[in-house]
Amino acid sequence: MSTLHANDQKTLREAFPQLNKASVDAFNLGDSERCANFYDENATLFVQDEDVIEGRANIAVYLRHLYDTGTRMEPVRPLVIESKNELGFCAGTFRVGLPAQFDAGECADGKFITVFKRIESGDWVAIIDSFFVDTVRDGLTAGASMTERTGRGSATEQDEARSVVRGIYQRGARYYDWFASLYYVAGMRVGHWRRTAIGMLALQPGDTVVEIGCGTGLNFALLEESVGPQGRIIGVDISEAMLERAAIRVRKSAWQNVELVHGSASEFEFPDNTGGILATGVLNYEPEYDRVIMRGADALLPGRRWVVLDYREPTTWLRYLTPAFVLLGRTFGVSRRLMRRRPWESVERYLRNCQIVEMYGGFVYIVAGESE
Ligand SMILES: C[S@@+](CC[C@H](N)C(=O)[O-])C[C@H]1O[C@@H](n2cnc3c(N)ncnc32)[C@H](O)[C@@H]1O
Repeated sequence: MSTLHANDQKTLREAFPQLNKASVDAFNLGDSERCANFYDENATLFVQDEDVIEGRANIAVYLRHLYDTGTRMEPVRPLVIESKNELGFCAGTFRVGLPAQFDAGECADGKFITVFKRIESGDWVAIIDSFFVDTVRDGLTAGASMTERTGRGSATEQDEARSVVRGIYQRGARYYDWFASLYYVAGMRVGHWRRTAIGMLALQPGDTVVEIGCGTGLNFALLEESVGPQGRIIGVDISEAMLERAAIRVRKSAWQNVELVHGSASEFEFPDNTGGILATGVLNYEPEYDRVIMRGADALLPGRRWVVLDYREPTTWLRYLTPAFVLLGRTFGVSRRLMRRRPWESVERYLRNCQIVEMYGGFVYIVAGESE
C-alpha cells in the first residue's frame, strides 16, 4: 500500500508524494491497518499539543481515533523532498477537515515533515512523522507550555519540560547529524555559525571548556583545535542517546581529553578553572537557563567567556516568517514559545563586555560575555 517498491523504479521525488497520498487515502477509507504499514515498527509521530506517539501500533490507534471522530484529510502537497543515502525527507501541507466538536472551524491547513528510511526489501517507510494543524498555535512540548504559562514553573513542571525534551533527543539521536545537515538546504550556514561562536570563546591552548547540551559532539573538532591536546573538553547533555553518538565521535577521532557528563544543565557543577562555556541550540530548552548562565559565570576564570548560540523571533517584519522557521525545527521541539525565551539577556546580566551578532534575518544570534 503505502510502501513503494524499489522495482517500481520511481525516483524519490515521485515516491514521497505517493507514499503520503497512499497513507492519506488509507486514512480517509478508515483502513488503519494499511495506514499503520506506512510506518516503521519504531516510528515516532509528533502531533501538535499531544504527547509524542511511538511505535506503529500506537500510531495506528491514534489514526483510528482521528478517523472515528470524523476527521478527514486531503492529499498532500509536498514542499520539499530531499534524500540522502538510505534516508529521505519530505515536508508539505495538507488540508484537514475537523468535525465540529473540535471548535476549530471546518477545515484547517496543516503541515507535515516526514523522514523515510529504506528497508531491506527496498520499500520506504516513515520513521519520523509530524502532524501540525496551523489553527492550533501552541508549542509541541506540553511540559514546556505548562512551565511558560506559570512563569518559571514549579520544579515538577520544569522536570516534565526537561523530560519531554530529553525524550525528543533520545528518539532523534540516530538522525540528528543528518537532520542538522538538512538545515543547509534552508540556507542556514550552521558550520559558519559554529566557527563564529567558538571563535568568540577566545579559548587558549590548555583551557578547560564546558559545552552545555553538547549533543552528538558536532562542536568538538573546533573546540579541540582551540584547546589542543593539553586542554580539556567537558560535554554535558540530558540525553544518553545523544551522548552515545558523541562518544563514538570521540573514539573515532582518538581524542583523549573529552569527558562526557550525563545530566541536566540545571544540575551541572561547573569546575572552578573553567576557561570558556559554550551552548549552541540548547538554552531555549532549559526552563532555568538564567540560573545556568549565572552559575557558569561564577565558575569562569576572570576575563573568560560564556558564548550562547540560539534562535529567537526577529524584531523586524521577518518575524512573520516565524511559522516557517518553527516548521524547520519542529521535529526537535522548536516552538514559538521556546523562541520567546531570552538567554542573551541573562548573558548581559551576569557578564560584561557583551557582544551580540545576528544571523539568518535575526532568527539566530550569538552572544558572548566576559567574566569579571
Ligand atoms: C539542538 S541540540 C544541540 C546539540 C549541539 N549543541 C549542536 O550544536 O549540535 C540540543 C541538545 O541539548 C540537549 N539538552 C536539551 N535540554 C537540556 C538540558 N536541560 N540540559 C542538558 N542538555 C540539554 C539535548 O539533549 C540535545 O542534545
